[in-house]
Amino acid sequence: MARLTIWADGRALPVEVEAGALLSDALLHSGHRPDMPCGGRGRCRKCRVQASGALSPLSAAELDALSPAEREAGVRLACCTRILGDARVTAAGDDMRKQARAVRGLRKQLTEELEALYAAHTFRPALTAGETPAARPEADEA
Ligand code: FES
Repeated sequence: MARLTIWADGRALPVEVEAGALLSDALLHSGHRPDMPCGGRGRCRKCRVQASGALSPLSAAELDALSPAEREAGVRLACCTRILGDARVTAAGDDMRKQARAVRGLRKQLTEELEALYAAHTFRPALTAGETPAARPEADEA
């Protein structure tokens, strides 16, 4: 058995895990939901966590996915990292997920507002004398 300390939202949760377990499995079994769109195949690179301690060496997928700065900072792919002994991991907690959702919502809202502003300010030639809006339906939209 190994002791894994999971940090999320500023709190530490110590759990006992089988030595050799995947970090992603340990997180899932302790109620965390790492982002894993590829299902743990080491392809999507979304399951990044920061981890340290007795962990397996970097896998080929991690060497390919992580920059030297990320490796230096202890970033790992949770689906490719095995827990060999006592270790710690920082997981995205509920607070972090809420903040990420809020940022995505703001980004979407800003994009829509910018598109509306752009559409409202797109150059449209004025009607010429004698021309009616019915003859140029796009002039109605301005
Ligand atoms: S879950 Fe896709 S790379 Fe880990």
